[in-house]
Amino acid sequence: MSAAQGVSAGGGWGAYVAARDAAVRELRGRVLEIGAGYGANFAQLRADVQWWGLEPSPRRRGALEAAARRHGHDTPPLAAPAEDIPIADASVDAVLGTTVLCSVRDQARVLDEVARVLVPGGRVVLADHVAARPGTGSYRLQRMVRPWSRLLDHGCDPLRDTERAVGASPLLVDSVERFEIPVIARLRVPFVVIRAYSR
Ligand SMILES: C[S@@+](CC[C@H](N)C(=O)[O-])C[C@H]1O[C@@H](n2cnc3c(N)ncnc32)[C@H](O)[C@@H]1O
Repeated sequence: MSAAQGVSAGGGWGAYVAARDAAVRELRGRVLEIGAGYGANFAQLRADVQWWGLEPSPRRRGALEAAARRHGHDTPPLAAPAEDIPIADASVDAVLGTTVLCSVRDQARVLDEVARVLVPGGRVVLADHVAARPGTGSYRLQRMVRPWSRLLDHGCDPLRDTERAVGASPLLVDSVERFEIPVIARLRVPFVVIRAYSR
């Protein structure tokens, strides 16, 4: 994370959602959304972006395509995993991924692909839950639920260190905002909103 220019911390679900949505609203031009799910970010994306979605789940992709059309985006979502983005080098201005890096098979490969498809200086917004500090009760809870979430929640891995993965990727980290979301008693799940850009 040596390239980070700003790191800030906040608290609570509301603060996380507000920070994530603010970062989504900053994106301009041709925006590729990876793991777009059912299209939860359409309400936040600027109306003038040229949206391109990628969603490997056939069931979600159908609903996503319908939601995209309702928001004026006619390009059908790409049926592919973010490890193999089927578009040309340097073809988008921004990449967005919310609660996706927790689920992908190979974070490093996805981040290489994100860097490849971005124009130089292209923007990246990633928002996700990440691993708590090892040794804490929150980390132990995440380790306990991990086999179940991997199995039942689309491969979701609660122990990902996404901030470190982005720092180790070809992308340059611009800022990281961290949030601690209470779950049970004093246990907290950390969430991050990461802004980065391509070289
Ligand atoms: C927790 S959902 C988040 C959906 C949406 N981004 C949101 O914020 O509501 C995770 C999404 O990532 C997708 N996904 C899982 N593995 C993926 C991969 N390797 N590449 C791209 N998307 C993937 C899932 O199909 C699912 O739609």
